[in-house]
Amino acid sequence: MKSELPFQILKTIREMQEVSEKFRCEGKKIAVVPTMGYLHNGHTTLIERASSLADIVITTIFVNPTQFGPNEDFARYPRDFEHDKVVAHNAGSDIIFYPDAEEIYPTGFSSIVEVEGVSNILEGAFRPKHFQGVTTVVAKLLNITKPHIAVFGQKDAQQAFLIQKMVRDLNFDIDIIIAPIVREADGLAMSSRNMYLNEAERKSALVLFRSLQHAAERIRQGERSIALLRKEMLNIIQSGAPSQIDYIAFVDPATFSETEHLNQPEILVALAVRFGTTRLIDNSLIPITP
Ligand code: PAJ
Repeated sequence: MKSELPFQILKTIREMQEVSEKFRCEGKKIAVVPTMGYLHNGHTTLIERASSLADIVITTIFVNPTQFGPNEDFARYPRDFEHDKVVAHNAGSDIIFYPDAEEIYPTGFSSIVEVEGVSNILEGAFRPKHFQGVTTVVAKLLNITKPHIAVFGQKDAQQAFLIQKMVRDLNFDIDIIIAPIVREADGLAMSSRNMYLNEAERKSALVLFRSLQHAAERIRQGERSIALLRKEMLNIIQSGAPSQIDYIAFVDPATFSETEHLNQPEILVALAVRFGTTRLIDNSLIPITP
């Protein structure tokens, strides 16, 4: 069911909360899609999904400084609000919430939301404090937009797991939807960071999806040795001459802990690899048939 609202861009928390409250009082169902902008088809798929589930779709665009480490790409993270406005609107957003950093983190701000444990492994081990920044800003965005539904992507599998856990642990009355990874035609997972890749790196980066497909095929054929699968994936990834392989992890999707066995219904294979100065992540949820 689509609304006939005029498209709105809101920049203050107060306006956003008032508008959401009004819709809630009218009995409208609200869905939010949090993003950092520079929207691509991965994001628009989430907006379309939100649009199919709710009356009002809010897309938030905020490059959250607290989830970037001191040596990460916050300053050069791509931004193009004029483009995002059109893309978000065309995909079915009714409202864009587009706050300044001072609006979200005013002087004196000092609270954090942290999911202990899983925040510090894998991505969290390579990006200290990253997930604390993510869960804190997502908690704030949920309180600001007051949705019934929030949609996230499986592309950031650990983030998706942590947000679901935060919402459960802290009793946010919100349904979390996790949408599948959207890929380019050649298999590269869509990401705002792909624009950093030069032509050669872009081509090399295809080894990520190729290695995940290889693992899926070998598991389907009956291979159950994680050591062997990891070695074969490593060979494929190394053929793309990456500058660094941060991890190739076999994760139990129920707990997000690394596992040594393939005896659960499905396994999440997650990886983080650098090509030049660009760090890419990808993953695949692979069924394990007995
Ligand atoms: P961002 O990287 O902009 O991603 C916004 C949402 O889009 C996330 O839920 C992410 O998983 C999803 N997404 C990105 N690429 C995707 C793809 N190829 N297929 C499917 N979904 C994809 O993730 C963040 O922003 C931030 O951490 C945020 C949650 C907004 C908090 O600041």
